Amino acid sequence: MEISKLYWVLETCNSAYCFGINDDGYLINSYWGKRKNNKTDYPLPGQKEGWASFDSPANVLQEEYPVYGGGFHHEPCLKITFADGVRDLVLRYDTDWSSKNEIAIQLRDSYYPIRLISHYRAHYDYDLIERWVEVFNEGNEPITIERIFSAQWHFPEQQQYFLSHLSGKWSDEFHLSREALTSGVKVLESRRLTSSHHHNPWFMVDAGNATETHGEVWFGALAWSGNWKLAAEVTNFDMTRISMGINDWDFAWRLNGGENFVSPSAFAGYTENGFGQASRSLHSFIREQLIPHESKPHKILYNSWEATLFDVDEISQTRLAEIAASMGVELFVLDDGWFYNRNSDQSGLGDWWPDPVKFPHGLQPLIQKVNQLGMDFGLWIEPEMVNPDSDLYRSHPNWILHFPTRKPTLARNQCILNMALPEVQTYLIEKIDRLLKENNIAFIKWDMNRNVSEPGWLHPPGDPKEIWVRYVQGLYRVWGELRLRHPDVIWQSCSGGGGRADLGILSFADQIWVSDNTQALARLQIQHGFSMAYPAITMEAWVTDADRGKLPLSFRFHVSMCGSLGIGGNLLQWCEDELDEATYWISRYKGLREIIQLGEQYRLEYYSTQYMSKDYQHGVLFVFNAGEPVQTNSIKVRLQGLQPDVIYEVEGFNQIKSGQDWMSEVLVFPLAEFESTIREIHKKIE
Ligand code: DGJ
Repeated sequence: MEISKLYWVLETCNSAYCFGINDDGYLINSYWGKRKNNKTDYPLPGQKEGWASFDSPANVLQEEYPVYGGGFHHEPCLKITFADGVRDLVLRYDTDWSSKNEIAIQLRDSYYPIRLISHYRAHYDYDLIERWVEVFNEGNEPITIERIFSAQWHFPEQQQYFLSHLSGKWSDEFHLSREALTSGVKVLESRRLTSSHHHNPWFMVDAGNATETHGEVWFGALAWSGNWKLAAEVTNFDMTRISMGINDWDFAWRLNGGENFVSPSAFAGYTENGFGQASRSLHSFIREQLIPHESKPHKILYNSWEATLFDVDEISQTRLAEIAASMGVELFVLDDGWFYNRNSDQSGLGDWWPDPVKFPHGLQPLIQKVNQLGMDFGLWIEPEMVNPDSDLYRSHPNWILHFPTRKPTLARNQCILNMALPEVQTYLIEKIDRLLKENNIAFIKWDMNRNVSEPGWLHPPGDPKEIWVRYVQGLYRVWGELRLRHPDVIWQSCSGGGGRADLGILSFADQIWVSDNTQALARLQIQHGFSMAYPAITMEAWVTDADRGKLPLSFRFHVSMCGSLGIGGNLLQWCEDELDEATYWISRYKGLREIIQLGEQYRLEYYSTQYMSKDYQHGVLFVFNAGEPVQTNSIKVRLQGLQPDVIYEVEGFNQIKSGQDWMSEVLVFPLAEFESTIREIHKKIE
């Protein structure tokens, strides 16, 4: 075997990712950056000496998938304990195969019957590389996997890098931070069973010189909705890398002989056009390749939660539905409180049939009324949860995550069902399938309102610490099966707002309920952070009563119109002027939503946002004066994303100019504090 010929180049529209086996047999990353003219222009994987007797060659190389073994001391992607207690992996090249956009490299351990396939897939139009691994135990004895990441991503050597990431908490999600990476390991993670409000499984990295519009940016995200980990490491040789995958904290997986384990996919990309372009690549990929229903913009919904809380019945909901329909709302969503014995958050979760007191004839009569009013009907559920005060819990107390010697910690008076149990999966599929079969339901909001505690179960099939992964596999199975049986239903992922927003859940859900915080000013920041990774079509945004009387209704609408518009206020209390104005904005949004939801997003100054249709003929611009830190009553923004040679007109400016000219000019909008404006942009046909 001529090892030095083993070299692979994955090219996307604007980037390239190259790796190969060096003469010592290591799988090395040799390039990740701007696409070059010829394939022969990319560097080959090199050799490196170690550093004295203290750093082996592995410590100074950019290994694609370093494993714990030999003299390797940085963050590995894989750590295994063999049945005989040996904790040392020696993986070497075995074979490979490839198709147009995919490459698979198989490595084998030099002694133990273990094989690993490192998979690569190029998503050409999106400048993204997808990576995942499979581990096979071909022996007879079980092994224990203690860590299995999806990928390690290396950045060009010898630069100082900055990491951008998103963090937060309930009602305060998606704060964007950017910080210098220095020697050591910076960890972002979730230990909460879901991807969580705390950190989001997404990153951007730049060399300190990138802006929204310029500069090299490397970015990535993990498609996993459970415990995850991102380790950004700067080694003692100033090499910077990011590893991503299932969290190894409290994790172990017993892989029996003949079994395999597949990691979730990690995605990463490169652009030389700044943070904005990095976001747009991810947006397009999520919109066009990931979410179940790409081509149609979402309907404008009304959700009754903030109006009626648990106090729902046919009469109260019908009154709200009538007003919503008269305003132009297209989808009426009945939130929490509709199911058996659900009068507060103390009881009912698990019993997924209509409460006979509130809905004596089931949901049908309400759904029929909603449909007669010309709207679709949507419903809230929280399948993974159970209240101790429920028929489900009384019949199956052992279905919850728990340790038998510990009292389960309640949060919002509820426990978490063990989604890894097949009987729990069957119960949920049966109950939700029946709801969807018996009722004309077009939309489901899938909620999850607490984080984990006591992550135990009575009879785990393997290592008890497999629960973190088996739970998510169970969740995906239930959601996947329901999606298969009801392909037209639109699903929304909610976990007390934005606690489960990730590329994994977006293969099942079309939308994310981004935050329970519906104050427009807070939302501007939350939506800004969310937009770093996720497209506007996935961002459900309601106008509620949160700022009623404090901020103009137009401002509140403009903020929510930046995503998938919804209304969540108590319409029974809105005066005629408010209803009229809301009707106007709803109708205006209908004319713009194709651009907002299916187009390209450009983040401008002061949370102002511009969207352009895919053909760049039409655009819409939202400009906000959100108070601090703006000192004057004029907001200055510079347009982006116009085609330089195309002639455009921008609403409110009595001129037509080339895209180039518009983009080189600073546009001044006289807006007092908490005023905002919408401007349409059109290509001018000469
Ligand atoms: C949390 C969600 O984020 C809210 O929108 C609402 O659905 C409540 N749960 C209902 O309990």
